[in-house]
Amino acid sequence: MSLLEVKGVQSYYGHIHALKGVDLTVGEGEVVALIGGNGAGKTTTLRTISGMLRPKQGDVTYAGRSIVGMAAHDIMSLGISHVPEGRRIFPQLTVRENLDIGAYKVSNRKLIQERMDEGFALFPRLAERRTQLGGTLSGGEQQMLAIARALMVDPKLLLLDEPSMGLSPKFVETIFDIVERLNRERGTTILLVEQNASMALGVARRAYVLQTGEIRLTGDAADVARDASVREAYLGG
Ligand SMILES: Nc1ncnc2c1ncn2[C@@H]1O[C@H](COP(=O)(O)OP(=O)(O)OP(=O)(O)O)[C@@H](O)[C@H]1O
Ligand SMILES: [Mg+2]
Repeated sequence: MSLLEVKGVQSYYGHIHALKGVDLTVGEGEVVALIGGNGAGKTTTLRTISGMLRPKQGDVTYAGRSIVGMAAHDIMSLGISHVPEGRRIFPQLTVRENLDIGAYKVSNRKLIQERMDEGFALFPRLAERRTQLGGTLSGGEQQMLAIARALMVDPKLLLLDEPSMGLSPKFVETIFDIVERLNRERGTTILLVEQNASMALGVARRAYVLQTGEIRLTGDAADVARDASVREAYLGG
């Protein structure tokens, strides 16, 4: 049994049929990449898993139990944390306050402080900026904050939606280093959505290619990276 199983999932926005039967699995301790072009349904897949969107058809199971129809905050309590596309940090709140909000499900102050310190150890740049307003952070720093915020609940499964988007190569490398470290050092299971296919396929063990709401290809990341259609569409030939 995989930690996460998405089976035949169909999701809509009104009449827009965004997911047309998506199947994917993520095993405990794996890093799995979900790649695909604009509008393929990557964000919709993550939103369906984290309970922000309810599928019309199909099932999502986590640790063997269906989570379809559960409230997003209850899904989070089970150990699934979602870093949304575009970061969505609170610009008027400080770094510390943003992290506090990430921990709203945690009531033990000591634990909150410990996790905050862990986040600062992972991202020293955030530690230096703990009293700075979120909206004044650089794009890369905001992405670090969004990830650190998601880690405040100590997730078992982390859903990352395009963490490298809009970042300079140096920040992209930092973010991917963190993905590897979280997986290696804490055993965090990660489902990584990316348009930066070469980076994502470098860090993931397995990958899925999504195209217009359907999985077109899946396999070991190295094999997916060698696929001619993937090379042409997502890896620049
Ligand atoms: N809130 C919404 N209302 C209506 N349609 C939507 C909404 N969000 C997404 N869609 C549509 O659903 C489809 C899948 O979108 P989604 O955001 O999941 O794609 P994506 O793979 O994440 O793309 P990108 O790489 O551009 O972020 C697209 O056709 C999009 O126009
Ligand atoms: Mg998206």
